[in-house]
Amino acid sequence: MFAVVLGVLLLSGAWLMAAEEKKAAEPYDEDTYGPEAPIIWDKPVKSVVFDHKIHTQANELSCDSCHDDLFTMEAGAAQEKDDFTMETLYNGGYCGACHDGSTAFASNKRCTACHIGVRGKARLEGGTAAAAGGHAKE
Ligand code: HEC
Ligand code: HEC
Ligand code: HEC
Repeated sequence: MFAVVLGVLLLSGAWLMAAEEKKAAEPYDEDTYGPEAPIIWDKPVKSVVFDHKIHTQANELSCDSCHDDLFTMEAGAAQEKDDFTMETLYNGGYCGACHDGSTAFASNKRCTACHIGVRGKARLEGGTAAAAGGHAKE
């Protein structure tokens, strides 16, 4: 148990340090790069993450490469639609417009880059896996 707690502390410490280093390099400006907090979907499966920072600041995509043709500017809107599935991504919808193996890594590869699971969500939200239900299936 102690080892698990220590592991979580070390992991979140490393994560915070990485975030701090990035901040020091260039302050993150939400007007320029979009919301700083990652967007997390729980439907149809828990949990998938989208990070503006990776796309705008790090990969220099403009807002209109996604808004509003692929996504509206409203966190959670896409998961209300029945077609927010891997099949749609594989056919070039939503994330799949770029995650097709040429513009960006393919949607049928690296599942866990997007699928962070229940624990990943808890970590991003500053809690621990235990707080989100340590025995939940991922
Ligand atoms: C690579 C795609 C992509 C790019 C580029 C992008 N966004 Fe987004 N944005 C998203 C997605 C995905 C969502 C969540 C939509 C959903 O859940 O249906 C979102 C949501 C938002 C939201 C709503 C947040 C909330 O809490 O409701 C705002 C505001 C936003 N984006 C602003 C921007 C701005 C400003 C830019 C340009 C600097 C930008 N976005 C660039 C994909 C993108
Ligand atoms: C407008 C194009 C575009 C769209 C739409 C887009 N992405 Fe990306 N994404 C990129 C590019 C370009 C990169 C960086 C190149 C790469 O990693 O292949 C990237 C990188 C990523 C990474 C980083 C992987 C790593 O290196 O750790 C993740 C995760 C990711 N995208 C998730 C998503 C998700 C989830 C969606 C849909 C909600 C999405 N992206 C929609 C273009 C896009
Ligand atoms: C580029 C990001 C991305 C990658 C890579 C990705 N997914 Fe997804 N996945 C999503 C999004 C977005 C959703 C819809 C939101 C949600 O379910 O929370 C989703 C939903 C799903 C669903 C539920 C809907 C459905 O299609 O049945 C399954 C199952 C799934 N993904 C499996 C996988 C597997 C397996 C892989 C690797 C082979 C994978 N995903 C790779 C973004 C991604």
